[in-house]
Amino acid sequence: MKIFISGVCGFVGSELALGLREAGHEVCGCDNFSRPGSELNKPRIESAGVDFSHGDVRREEALERFRGIDWVIDAAANPSVLAGVDGRTSSRELLEHNLWGTVNLLELCKRESAGMVLLSTSRVYSIGALCSLPVKVSDGAFVLDERGDAAGPRGVTEEFSTDAPVSLYGASKLASEQIALEYGSTFGFPVWVNRCGVMSGAGQFGRPDQGIFSFWIHSWARRAPLKYIGFGGTGHQVRDCLHPRDLLGLVVLQIGRAGASRDGRAKPRVVNVGGGADSAMSLRQLSEWCEKEFGPGTVAADLTPRPFDLPWVVLDASKAEDVWGWRPGISTARICAEIAEHAREHPEWLRISAG
Ligand SMILES: NC(=O)c1ccc[n+]([C@@H]2O[C@H](COP(=O)([O-])OP(=O)(O)OC[C@H]3O[C@@H](n4cnc5c(N)ncnc54)[C@H](O)[C@@H]3O)[C@@H](O)[C@H]2O)c1
Repeated sequence: MKIFISGVCGFVGSELALGLREAGHEVCGCDNFSRPGSELNKPRIESAGVDFSHGDVRREEALERFRGIDWVIDAAANPSVLAGVDGRTSSRELLEHNLWGTVNLLELCKRESAGMVLLSTSRVYSIGALCSLPVKVSDGAFVLDERGDAAGPRGVTEEFSTDAPVSLYGASKLASEQIALEYGSTFGFPVWVNRCGVMSGAGQFGRPDQGIFSFWIHSWARRAPLKYIGFGGTGHQVRDCLHPRDLLGLVVLQIGRAGASRDGRAKPRVVNVGGGADSAMSLRQLSEWCEKEFGPGTVAADLTPRPFDLPWVVLDASKAEDVWGWRPGISTARICAEIAEHAREHPEWLRISAG
């Protein structure tokens, strides 16, 4: 099969590209290198045989030369929840990259009769509803105190509220989901929407606003300043954690089965894809892990809440398991160990990632 990946030099795009090449697929893709550090993945993917173009999905012409495509994986985005309000990118630019870019990729799917795998996000879920979930502190981490609507100990389900506000980033993805599903149904191609939780692993270009596991471990290793922001400066905020190689396993199932027989049409189009409750970790717990790995460090407390911050986000991915027989297999401990090894080998990584 021939697979086009947008954002193919990004953290997730490059992992998917390498994995799909290993699985014997033809892979092509483009990246505009807007993410600092992403250009470092160009030689890696090209030496694995990926047909790469320096191009921007906001421009339809950048996709013109790609022909004979069976699947498009949309992995190009500004993935920061602060995008559009952080003074680095405007709200218009955010929507051009994340929403208009997806529209151009859907036009590519239409032209090529190709399917689409959209990498969406847990950030489509309502900030108000997530902040209203009752949580208590246990073992240095927020845990759910009692079941909420579409939220339980396994995490939040796909039925959880997506009411605004969800952040401009979350809204750009929610709108992309809707438009992708509409294109698929109107023009008759399969669309799978994967609402991904936090993804982490070696080589991620971590920053405080995106790629937190990578940023934290690299910063600890270098004794760079760290702070617990908001939530009383305690570091109790929790995320689950998924390695993109686990996502790859799901994508392989999605492009295989739906591409072959179309029986996938009956499957739910939108699933949560996350490490789940077993992988969940608070920042304070991550600090404890870092201390064992690298020795003591200090973390300041910044009591000022940051826009869009959430106390507890864990994705219940049981629908993906029921529908696809998919489960993540790489533990958070393994992910952290992989990042720590990378941090030892790449002392310059924080500087590269900061741009
Ligand atoms: N990493 C996570 O924790 C996470 C979680 C949920 C969803 N996602 C989604 O997964 C996808 C990949 O995220 P990532 O972590 O690899 O981010 P990343 O920033 O590492 O990769 C995105 C890549 O897209 C490229 N890009 C951005 N705008 C582009 C444009 N207009 N044209 C061409 N290339 C462009 C960037 O240069 C970068 O290489 C994104 O859609 C993101 O929203 C990521």
